[in-house]
Formats: sequence, C-alpha cells, structure tokens
Amino acid sequence: MSATPQSPLDPARFCAMMTQSYENRIPADVRTIIAAEAITPLGPKPHIVDLGCGPGLWLRDVAALRPDATLAGYDRDAKMLEAARGLGLKKAKWQSADVGAADFALKPDSCDVIAAHFFFHFFADPRRLLATMHDALRVGGSFVMTGWVRSSMADFADFWVTARTAIESSSAQAAPTDDPEAFCYQRFAEFNRYTLDDIRWLLGRHGFSVRRDAMYTKNFAYLIAGIA
Ligand SMILES: C[S@@+](CC[C@H](N)C(=O)[O-])C[C@H]1O[C@@H](n2cnc3c(N)ncnc32)[C@H](O)[C@@H]1O
Repeated sequence: MSATPQSPLDPARFCAMMTQSYENRIPADVRTIIAAEAITPLGPKPHIVDLGCGPGLWLRDVAALRPDATLAGYDRDAKMLEAARGLGLKKAKWQSADVGAADFALKPDSCDVIAAHFFFHFFADPRRLLATMHDALRVGGSFVMTGWVRSSMADFADFWVTARTAIESSSAQAAPTDDPEAFCYQRFAEFNRYTLDDIRWLLGRHGFSVRRDAMYTKNFAYLIAGIA
C-alpha cells in the first residue's frame, strides 16, 4: 500500500489542473529564489530529481536554466508522465514509481537537488522519504520544496473559490464538478497537515539544515535545505 492517498480526481482532470495552476502555485519569483540558491551555483552536469513531478513543468524550467543537467522526474500517475514526456526534454528521464512505497529507492550520494513540489503534504509519515532523500543527496546539494502548509479553513476555502474558478474557466478537461466546495471539506486535513515549523522540525530530525524558507501566500511556502 502506498504511503500517500490516491487522488479522487479523474487523471486527465488532475493533470490539467496541475498544468493550469503551475504558474500560480510555483510563481516565477519563487522559482527565481530556488534557482539562485540551489540550481545556478551547482557545478557542471548536476543531477536534479523531482519527486511527484506531475506534468514535469518545474524540470522543464530547470532544463532551460541548466542545459547541462541530467533530470529525473518520478510520478506514479500515467497521465502526468505522458504530459511530462510530451515536453520533449532531451536530458530528462520520467519514471513511473510510487515514491511512498516501501521499496522506493534513490541511489545514495547521487543527487545534487531533490525537489518535492506540492507533494510533501501527502505524507502522513514522511520518515522513510526523508531518510531516502538524505542518503541520496550529495554534500552541497539541496532539498527544495514548495507547497501546502497549514492555514485556516477560511484561507483554504478562499484559495479554492478563486483557484477553481480560474482553473475551470481555462480548461475543458478541468470542467466544474457538481459540488465544487466538497473538495475543500473532504481534503482540508490532508492539505493542511504541516505548518512550516513542523516541516523545519521534521527536516532537522532527519539531518537537514534549512537554509531559507518563507510563506509566499497564506497557504503556500517554499523551503530550501542542505544536509547537515
Ligand atoms: C499536486 S501534484 C503536483 C505535481 C507537480 N509537482 C507540480 O507541482 O506541478 C502531486 C503529484 O504527486 C504525485 N504523487 C502522489 N503520490 C505519489 C506517490 N506516492 N508516488 C509518486 N507520485 C505521487 C501525483 O500523481 C501528482 O502528479
């Protein structure tokens, strides 16, 4: 059994939502901070991994910045991987894998950056994931994440009203559901699992040292950490 829940959404719809919302979820100014802190300073031919890569848009942006990098995106969803492969990135490998499975592994000391965008909140017990990432990161490398952190139900609901209207009006595949508010109630606890302090604490317990982090909306944070 996977450590992360299955999406209740139709795969094509989920993929369309992730694609449509990318610029709002991981905005250019946040990508620039991550690039300046964790990507640009790397030596030649870095290896950059994206866990729960979805349609691959973050690795696409990394490829534009670092054409010398080898890239690996992992996801368990076939539609997401199909979209990522459609990007035509020559140095990217897109791998079907359940990152939450007990046998998921990365080669020790093989990665210069490991990213988890809008992915960490899925893990109720992230200990194995954190240990795997710690072993796989090279000294001087970074764990980078963006994603959901705990907010009030009012802020969570506000986000969804605005986001869903924007997403649904821009993609036929992301057409409205009968009860757009249901998602908000059904999945509030999962998306609001960790505060930024909780994530810092979890990382500290697993041998990471946080270099930079911030909330960039009421609901989203970024974080960049090295291995201590
Ligand atoms: C919210 S989406 C984010 C996608 C992408 N990181 C982004 O920000 O655009 C989460 C992704 O994680 C994937 N995912 C969830 N649980 C997973 C698991 N246990 N193993 C691999 N992928 C998983 C989903 O299929 C989905 O593509």
